[in-house]
Amino acid sequence: MKFFVDTADTAEITELAATGLLDGVTTNPSLIQKAGRDFIEVVREICGIVPGPVSAEVVALDHDGMMREAEILRKVADNVCIKVPLTIDGLKTCKALSSDGTMVNVTLCFSANQALLAAKAGASFISPFVGRHDDVGFDGMQLIADIRTIYDNYDFGTEILVASVRHPVHVLESAKIGADVMTAPPAVIRALFNHPLTEKGIQGFLADWAKTGQKIG
Ligand code: E4P
Repeated sequence: MKFFVDTADTAEITELAATGLLDGVTTNPSLIQKAGRDFIEVVREICGIVPGPVSAEVVALDHDGMMREAEILRKVADNVCIKVPLTIDGLKTCKALSSDGTMVNVTLCFSANQALLAAKAGASFISPFVGRHDDVGFDGMQLIADIRTIYDNYDFGTEILVASVRHPVHVLESAKIGADVMTAPPAVIRALFNHPLTEKGIQGFLADWAKTGQKIG
């Protein structure tokens, strides 16, 4: 499963990229607002840090406007992935861009039928929002499982990018279902490394090692 980080904070991205485990980045207008930086400038910088797909979202709601914005965004770097909302105009834009060889991430997906439409429109990625789905009383993970079944039934190449990930269990369940990608905030990715028994084990080994009086090298 590929790991994307869901942030526009370039310091966080640089730190996580240094682990060698980061495959891409997702941003959205709220994350750009939180970063407090010029949109194009920050996307360009992120594309230079991570060679994988970097999602940058259009804000126009009509097809022509989305195409105009996508034209500007895709010139920023070769690894920009245009993010469009799951609307009729968004999918029209997805079809046009993907037919032209541009990577497209269809965002704000909340049903398996929406994911089916995005795949038919040639999306590179579909982003089902599991956390927001759970928030309103639906089962986000069931949505991922349903999309996996549908995409496998028809051999769609669209990658399932689990979004709105809130905690490590979302990551675990996504991996068990066979999602292609997950995108999570930096804190959730960091939490994946931790286990209290790992920490306790290190402390125990170090204490015993100190008693040997030895050094390596
Ligand atoms: C995905 O691309 C979105 O940016 C993101 O996962 C939204 O997550 P949120 O529900 O935590 O805002």
